[in-house]
Amino acid sequence: MTDPAPPAGETAAPAPPPGCPAHADGPLRLSGLEFQQTPSQLYRSLRSEHGAVAPVLLDGDIPAWLVLGYAEVSYVTNNDELFARDSRRWNQWPNIPDDWPLLPFVGYQPSLLFTEGAEHQRRAGVITEALEAVDQFELAHTCREIAERLIDDFAGSGQAELMGSYAHALPMRAVVRLCGMPAAGTDTEEFVRDLRISLDAKEGDDPVAAYLRVQKRMEQLVREKRAAPGTDVTSRMLAHPAGLTDEEVVQDLITVIAAAQQPTANWICNSLRLLLTDDRFALNVSGGRLSVGQALNEVLWLDTPTQNFVGRWAARDTQLAGRHIKAGDCLVLGLAAANTDPQIWPEGHVGAENSAHLSFSNGEHRCPYPSPLLADVIARTAVETLLERLPDVVLAVEPEELTWRPSIWMRGLTALPVSFTPVVQ
Ligand code: HEM
Repeated sequence: MTDPAPPAGETAAPAPPPGCPAHADGPLRLSGLEFQQTPSQLYRSLRSEHGAVAPVLLDGDIPAWLVLGYAEVSYVTNNDELFARDSRRWNQWPNIPDDWPLLPFVGYQPSLLFTEGAEHQRRAGVITEALEAVDQFELAHTCREIAERLIDDFAGSGQAELMGSYAHALPMRAVVRLCGMPAAGTDTEEFVRDLRISLDAKEGDDPVAAYLRVQKRMEQLVREKRAAPGTDVTSRMLAHPAGLTDEEVVQDLITVIAAAQQPTANWICNSLRLLLTDDRFALNVSGGRLSVGQALNEVLWLDTPTQNFVGRWAARDTQLAGRHIKAGDCLVLGLAAANTDPQIWPEGHVGAENSAHLSFSNGEHRCPYPSPLLADVIARTAVETLLERLPDVVLAVEPEELTWRPSIWMRGLTALPVSFTPVVQ
């Protein structure tokens, strides 16, 4: 079979900054990067050195390709037979240790994430239809209630750390509620805590035990909804004519919750950072619904939550941007790099005027169609409610003191400390 012609995707090469890791000999290590605070510089250097597809090393010096070009990411994601999703295709498995840090994201699981072809269409179709039926006004109302409750907890003190006490907590509760669990209560609190630990363990946490409890709670939810269906995502997945088994529904529910949580939390926090640090927005914040929308969109272009995503695996030998890709090679989708590809922007300008970014990826495995809309409702309500309730909110530190989490995968702040006039309740 002849593969469709891939884009050429090479860019002009400005001089590299001195000491740039992208210009060190051999492929760049995508772990322990010095450039994590300013990844856009790293992507620029990589592009100038290697073109649209760069050889990189994942944790443990495992080789992969980082796809940096807008046209190339679109090409890869739109050719799912050639660049497939089942990670068992990987030619590096013999070199992967049992405790490899990326195993939770890359190791095969029987969820829709790793299915291909007709089986993926079946599983993704169920999720799409179950999410499509979500009433967006009701979701906004739920998010508003959750936001109000979270703000009540810190409004009297005049200060807060918004990443932990707001941006992370809100989407987790909203999505749990969509799936048919109450937004508050001891049971939900414990579930939300276990989810947090299994997705983002801190020192002293036991992510494996937490994940097992998450799975058990989802199994219980599925049993409850089989016995007494409601108007929630879980019940709709169970009732879908595709006839998913209970095990499949449990797997895909966990995928939905996990896929929604961190990106949406980072979207909220990165947008709040932009609104609180950039004069273009500061002037309008108190009255500006439009500004919030612009900030949300600009973040998707310039500080997108899922900056790199693993990935796709070549189904057979092929070429991409002049690179010889071997069957079973791993391709990392460089979504942030693609969004700032100079090939799609006039020189020196990266705007945010439309939504043609690749932040939700593309093709068969893209973030399933209703999800970006639902994430927008959650993020917009979170940001607007905070600005309405705390109209004089300001950063409690200098903007330069804010630090990004040392992750090449997700782009999010370690903390967002703010202060405001205490609200008497
Ligand atoms: C309500 C919120 C969300 C839900 C329910 C959701 C759900 C999902 C699901 C189920 C998948 C797996 C799709 C598949 O493999 O077929 C997925 C993938 C993905 N989502 Fe989302 N998501 C949400 C929010 C977000 C946000 C805010 C972002 C980033 C701005 C995002 C970016 C992505 C990306 C990059 C992928 C990978 C797509 C690929 O493999 O090409 N999602 N999402």
